[in-house]
Amino acid sequence: MRWNLTPEQIPTAWFNVLPRLTEPLPPPLHPGTREPVGPDDLAPLFPMALIGQEVSAEPWIDVPGPVLDVLRLWRPTPLVRARRLEEALGTPARIYYKDESVSPAGSHKPNTAVAQAFYNKEEGTRRLSTETGAGQWGSALSFACSLFDLECKVYMVRASYGQKPYRRVMIETWGGEVVPSPVDDPDHPGSLGTAISDAVRDAAGRDDTHYSLGSVLNHVLLHQTVIGLEAKEQLALAGEERPDVVIGSCGGGSNLGGLTLPFVPDEGVRLVAVEPTSCPTLTEGRFDYDFGDTAGMTPLLPMFTLGHDFIPPAIHAGGLRYHGDAPIISALVRGGRMEAVAYPQAKVFEAAVQFARTQGTIAAPETSHAIRAAIDEALAAKEEGAERVILFGYSGHGLLDLQAYDDHLHGRLVDA
Ligand SMILES: Cc1ncc(COP(=O)(O)O)c(C=O)c1O
Repeated sequence: MRWNLTPEQIPTAWFNVLPRLTEPLPPPLHPGTREPVGPDDLAPLFPMALIGQEVSAEPWIDVPGPVLDVLRLWRPTPLVRARRLEEALGTPARIYYKDESVSPAGSHKPNTAVAQAFYNKEEGTRRLSTETGAGQWGSALSFACSLFDLECKVYMVRASYGQKPYRRVMIETWGGEVVPSPVDDPDHPGSLGTAISDAVRDAAGRDDTHYSLGSVLNHVLLHQTVIGLEAKEQLALAGEERPDVVIGSCGGGSNLGGLTLPFVPDEGVRLVAVEPTSCPTLTEGRFDYDFGDTAGMTPLLPMFTLGHDFIPPAIHAGGLRYHGDAPIISALVRGGRMEAVAYPQAKVFEAAVQFARTQGTIAAPETSHAIRAAIDEALAAKEEGAERVILFGYSGHGLLDLQAYDDHLHGRLVDA
């Protein structure tokens, strides 16, 4: 029911989907000139190694040894078959999940945080600034910075800063500094877009500081592909030829990309993105160039967007409250290679509770979106009387999100 790989079986190269896309991605544009951005435009924010990965045409990119050494603290992560959930649903489907909740920060986010901290340290950066929604990314980066002896400043979406005090404590325990965002408007609930503006402003204003983004960009999705690469090996160990469908929750698209991108070339494997109905970027957004942040300081990215000034309602899945989506994910959805579905909070938490009462673990609200979709796929298989192999991304645990469960269990959860 559980497939583990040995520490030696950790993937030693990341899977780069860029050369495998049917059409090249349109380039990011400079926010001032609207011309394609070059490496020099990005150099104040990112180390050259990451700028190179952003546009690399190499099909595989080696994971540096010091990054592998850190990843081995918790990787490879387990692949688990959700047998008890299958029984409760009475489905002929076989449901597997890739458990990224076992990392020190409790989610998939350290997979890229460690790589980004490493490359910044190598190029002489002393300090990193970043945004965080529910605190998963901020805590992951603070953890990674502590290992590579970098300072870390986190701008945390104000709505979550109040709601999730223990994520703040994690950030501080690993030595990072965290403040609520937007910094200049104490009455504003904030969003990932406003927090990105604060973090970019910080990095652009200091010579010793680079900016670090927890999702969306090509290099972030690249670093997350260890998830899908391991899952492929583990499914083979479980005797599965291939999954019929691979599902991930989608905020900016990093855990979804990490799990699904290695399956893009595989015929007959459906890929599904799951988002909240209150922030329906892929299902209701328009495809356009838009800023990555609210203030319009970042390059314009070709993506599905709800508009950079869209402020989503303060749902519990803080990590899914982003107006845009990764250009890679957007291209896959636009080209028909990936599907997208949206669910309201109440249905998501019903699924999360059913999962907890069968499989035991309490999932992050973001992760619970993928659980909802996996359950619905399993129920559809039951309806059709068809076997179906379902793989979903268990992107993080919800042990610091219990307020959300309390609200759900006591009828206080409102869907806007
Ligand atoms: C547990 C978890 N899952 C999913 C997400 C969504 O982000 P992404 O789409 O980049 O994976 C987040 C973001 O904070 C998260 O914390």
